[in-house]
Amino acid sequence: MSRKKIALIGGGQIGGTLAHLAALKEMGDIVLFDIVEGLPQGKALDLAQSGPVDGFDAALKGANAYKDIEGADVVIVTAGVPRKPGMSRDDLLGINLKVMKAVGEGIRQYAPNAFVICITNPLDAMVWALQKFSGLPTEKVCGMAGVLDSARFRHFLAEEFDVSVEDVTAFVLGGHGDTMVPLTRYSAVAGIPVPDLVKMGWSTQEKIDAIVQRTRDGGAEIVGLLKTGSAFYAPAASAIQMAESYLKDKKRLLPCAAHLNGEYGLSDMYVGVPAIIGAGGIEKIVEIDLIGEEKSGFDHSVGAVKGLVEACLTIDSTLA
Ligand code: APR
Repeated sequence: MSRKKIALIGGGQIGGTLAHLAALKEMGDIVLFDIVEGLPQGKALDLAQSGPVDGFDAALKGANAYKDIEGADVVIVTAGVPRKPGMSRDDLLGINLKVMKAVGEGIRQYAPNAFVICITNPLDAMVWALQKFSGLPTEKVCGMAGVLDSARFRHFLAEEFDVSVEDVTAFVLGGHGDTMVPLTRYSAVAGIPVPDLVKMGWSTQEKIDAIVQRTRDGGAEIVGLLKTGSAFYAPAASAIQMAESYLKDKKRLLPCAAHLNGEYGLSDMYVGVPAIIGAGGIEKIVEIDLIGEEKSGFDHSVGAVKGLVEACLTIDSTLA
């Protein structure tokens, strides 16, 4: 059996980290694609030279031509411009929409059977456009946001409760942006829901509310600290978890930007929901009951994503 092929479109901060993680985990042979000449080749060579030290077998290739992604099993897209301080994800829309068009056409031509994970922001609108530009089945195109947002929530909760991150589960749904919806009721420490932990005196509602807000601002907090870029370690780790679930048919239930066609009362849109990822791609969308502020928060977030999609349609009418 030949090795799997992982194509990474965008060889910047996240792309390079993705290549490193995929190589360390021996997920397959890796092609790192970028429009900048030399960048993906340099990173691929550097990473390949870490193979003898770390003891992994993976071929790494840098590329500037889409032909090199031919036959990829998984494509992870980070191509585009990252957020700069003071820039909202929405400001990125116009620039990155054009990038999605080029990437989508490349995937359509050379990797039509791949499972595609989009990371480029503004995420929910970009993955929607990428699916249209690529023409791939909707269950084979998804976006990475929920795993990252939930990981941030889990990290903050683990710190607050002074327990291992391994024992903290959390769910963040909705669009990837200021309107995302961290679901406290569905978050737990070793199965004990966070609201129960508050009742048990482990924390206060005020502290949990502050953690929810810090989670929402998680990306901006890192942009503010780095000043010249956005987060890359945790985004890469999150996308790798999704890719592994597909390649190994693990059927993990992960929050991700998935195509909705009737679920949650929405049609033809991508937004963060719980979904099962297996060999079929997005195999099932899990419709959980949202109540009170969860429901209004989700609706508000969906409204923000719809606004971005409408802006995409104004810029490029072929998406209609
Ligand atoms: N095709 C391929 N690669 C492209 C294209 C294109 N049309 N346009 C830009 N790129 C490349 C850039 O040359 C750069 O190397 O995409 C890469 C992006 O890398 P970084 O600028 O380092 O950004 P990164 O931190 O990796 O984030 C990528 O993910 O989280 C989102 O908001 C973030 O949209 C951004 C994306």
